[in-house]
Amino acid sequence: MPPSATSPHGLAQRVLRSSLLEALAYPHGVDRYVELVRPLLLRHDVRAEVVAVRHQTPRSVTLTLRPNENWRGLRAGQFVGLSVEIEGIREMRPYSPSGSVHARGGELELTVSTHPDGKVSRHLRDRARPGVIVGLTQAQGEFVLPEVRPERVLLISGGSGITPVMAMLRTLCDEGFTGEVGFLNYARSPELALYGSELDALSAEHPAVRVARGYTRGGHSPISGRFRRAHLQAAISDHAGAATFVCGPPALIDAVGRIWREDGLEEPSVETFTAPALTFDTATAEGTVSFAASGRQVANNGLPLLEQAEDAGLTPEHGCRMGICNTCSCLKTSGRVRNVLTGEVSSAGEEQIRICVSVPVGDTALDI
Ligand code: FES
Repeated sequence: MPPSATSPHGLAQRVLRSSLLEALAYPHGVDRYVELVRPLLLRHDVRAEVVAVRHQTPRSVTLTLRPNENWRGLRAGQFVGLSVEIEGIREMRPYSPSGSVHARGGELELTVSTHPDGKVSRHLRDRARPGVIVGLTQAQGEFVLPEVRPERVLLISGGSGITPVMAMLRTLCDEGFTGEVGFLNYARSPELALYGSELDALSAEHPAVRVARGYTRGGHSPISGRFRRAHLQAAISDHAGAATFVCGPPALIDAVGRIWREDGLEEPSVETFTAPALTFDTATAEGTVSFAASGRQVANNGLPLLEQAEDAGLTPEHGCRMGICNTCSCLKTSGRVRNVLTGEVSSAGEEQIRICVSVPVGDTALDI
């Protein structure tokens, strides 16, 4: 329940919103001071309290989060940047909430799969406890259920890619969706499969939901091995005409896309959090990169500006390092940059750019 205007919490919120207080806190802003004492009362930033922690598999942790009043909500399938401080450095990673957008109390559920070198994922698995506060960005992303729900939906996922499609499935079920929903999911083994019991319960409760699970490295399942055309019929009566959403590793996305192209169907909506393999032309790089706010300059070495800034001893904010979360966005004051994901070259004027995926094309200046 939101705090009332007359409760101590409500009064604190009103005081924190006053512009006088903002002026007194200049140049850091009120939030810098409030963060130290009551992080959930921040005026602008989204913070969330961990209210429950469970471990579905040995390699994952599922967190239930209660965001503060700055949270603006999300659409099923979007992701958030979650940040935590590890050894004095704030680290951020993108995660897709897996709960229904109609969840009681606006709580979010995030399931984080760990990787051997995953600093944030391992930290969350080992350290997250009820009462811990984490930072969140607002929800982002175009991988979403359309506002006007399609008649039939097919959700295909692999590994941790199950999370955004789980949000879609739970949202549709909460809305009483009566159209056909196929849910095709791949995990390495039954021990590493996420949301097994929830999926069984949803398909038992909702006759229009059909779930098919496959294990790519062993374990009994009606479908076996990696995705192939024959698996589709285990999840849906006819994949043509079903609004299709695919999230998982690039190989799964490619395999699904190939079948859709063979059948002359519209490309499915896809999302992957695997960083694309990129190569950079460092031999012909030229010009100088100027970091105006810090007064530093380096010779352009052809790598993304985030790396060049770090090499120059700066510590720009960043999260995903793959152009997803927007955390590294900063002002380019002059010069052209190439977006390494799209190949597009910017204009030479002032604009916000994501420095983790921008490579300078000659002299460039940033406001950091
Ligand atoms: S760090 Fe996420 S977009 Fe650059």
